[in-house]
Amino acid sequence: MSANVRITPHPSFDVLAATTAARLITRLLDVQSERGEATVVLTGGSVGIATLREVAKSPARLAVDWGKVNFWFGDDRFVPTDSPERNYGQAAEALLNHVPVDPARVHAMAPSDSVADLGEAVALYAAELACAARTEWENDDASPDEPPAVPRFDVLLLGLGPDAHIASLFPEMAGIRTKGAAVVGVLNSPKPPPVRVSLTLETINSAQEIWIVAAGADKAAAVGLGLAGASEIQVPASGARGVNKTMWLLDEAAAAKVPAALMRREN
Ligand code: 6PG
Repeated sequence: MSANVRITPHPSFDVLAATTAARLITRLLDVQSERGEATVVLTGGSVGIATLREVAKSPARLAVDWGKVNFWFGDDRFVPTDSPERNYGQAAEALLNHVPVDPARVHAMAPSDSVADLGEAVALYAAELACAARTEWENDDASPDEPPAVPRFDVLLLGLGPDAHIASLFPEMAGIRTKGAAVVGVLNSPKPPPVRVSLTLETINSAQEIWIVAAGADKAAAVGLGLAGASEIQVPASGARGVNKTMWLLDEAAAAKVPAALMRREN
């Protein structure tokens, strides 16, 4: 297990969500104090959205300059604007509507009723990522010779499926195999709804920190496989590796198959 992977169990779903919210607020504050702005990639799913609700409830949220937080999405369902299944809508209801974000810094994936087809939604998001990356590149003296395809992600949140999917990258499917692209369209998702837009694993792994959040006994096997060094094609979560840090933030039930030697307890 490489040194920059940390596995932390929490006593319950609620403690996991509240603690992850506290971590996120602290991380945003630390990055803003260093860089003036911070960037987080949000995830759908029960823990991801519950975490945003906890952020919205936390008094510490008042310390964050929300107008200088850039929000991206790891994936979204390709559904109409007002569909309750849209990760953007769930994130807005949980947090984005409750803190003073700068709308220009909130980057939602296109809903199905705003574009001609899935391909256009994928192309639009890739272009938006590239535009943000170029702007950062032009403002950064220490930048590489060429702008990257995506901007700097300080924290990238990932939920975890029982099949060890992350974002909308599912075992053995085309999305997890996709190379050389920042964003991919997903058809026939095993998890409904069937059509989605997702960041690719390459893009996910460009993040400074990846936080995989999972709760429930139905995730224990996926966590165990994800930490056992399995192939990312069969176990997408095993391919997630942040540049500086990868955190597995779990409740006790999801952590049940993690070897004790790998565990770092916080409670
Ligand atoms: C989605 C999510 C997906 C989710 C996991 C975990 O759009 O569905 O991005 O990757 O995070 O499936 O979801 P649960 O925590 O609800 O099981």
